[in-house]
Amino acid sequence: MKIAIITGASSGLGKEYALQLSENFPEVEAVWLVARRKALLDELAAKLTLPSVCVPLDLTSDTDLGILSRKLEEEQPEVQVLVNCAGCGYLANVAETDPELLARMCDLNMRAMTLVTRIALPYMPEGGHIVNVSSIASFCPNARMTVYSSTKAYVSSFSLGLREELRDRKISVTAVCSGPMDTEFLDVGEIRGNSKMFKTLPYCDPKKVASGSYKAAKADKAFHTPRAFFKLYRFIAKVTPSTIVVKLAKT
Ligand SMILES: NC(=O)c1ccc[n+]([C@@H]2O[C@H](COP(=O)([O-])OP(=O)(O)OC[C@H]3O[C@@H](n4cnc5c(N)ncnc54)[C@H](OP(=O)(O)O)[C@@H]3O)[C@@H](O)[C@H]2O)c1
Repeated sequence: MKIAIITGASSGLGKEYALQLSENFPEVEAVWLVARRKALLDELAAKLTLPSVCVPLDLTSDTDLGILSRKLEEEQPEVQVLVNCAGCGYLANVAETDPELLARMCDLNMRAMTLVTRIALPYMPEGGHIVNVSSIASFCPNARMTVYSSTKAYVSSFSLGLREELRDRKISVTAVCSGPMDTEFLDVGEIRGNSKMFKTLPYCDPKKVASGSYKAAKADKAFHTPRAFFKLYRFIAKVTPSTIVVKLAKT
């Protein structure tokens, strides 16, 4: 059976990826929805026309990653689409952040994304697609979100390297570098109301980010950066010394 796996499907952008899956990948026969909050996954599954399997997992737990691995081993699906969307970002200087939150950002954004990819890869056929949700934060470190932006630099770098490794297998890998979106992310990370930068920047619509990401994946693009404003930022961050950009990119 051809399936898609979407992590972080219980809210925000991940939920949009689930809602737009069928129209973009009609060949996919079922979707596995992954996040911790089962009730929200069930609610989403009820809205989808595509058969859905709710897989409530904490991706920072090795035990739960083992559950995903065994489920794939037992069911032997073809993973046509993998969307690594689960992520979190906490706003504060490193020295003032609970070490547990620093670890959570590293564990979820980098370790879990890497291991879910590794676990799914043996089941991915030629023509498969991997969408890794990075951020504009990957373009240059953002003070007060130093760990978050560093984890997203990893996501973009990992995606680009993996893309080369998978070229012969004809599996596309696309890193999605969205600007701010009005999702739970802003509340979980205590960003809402606490960052001038987040108040000033133009926002991205998760619906458009999801549809643009799928289009980019099907066109085998390495990166998808929504909105001209952020494409320009990406260019400026590339051609300007990062010691200068970092002073302007404080959150
Ligand atoms: N919103 C923004 O401004 C923004 C901008 C650029 C990039 N991004 C990126 O976009 C992605 C989606 O974020 P969002 O904006 O949609 O925020 P969101 O609504 O908070 O979604 C985060 C998702 O990750 C899941 N998640 C969190 N911890 C998890 C864990 N330990 N195990 C499994 N799943 C977990 C959450 O589900 P549960 O709580 O149910 O586990 C939720 O489904 C993230 O990678 C984020 O870094 C966001």
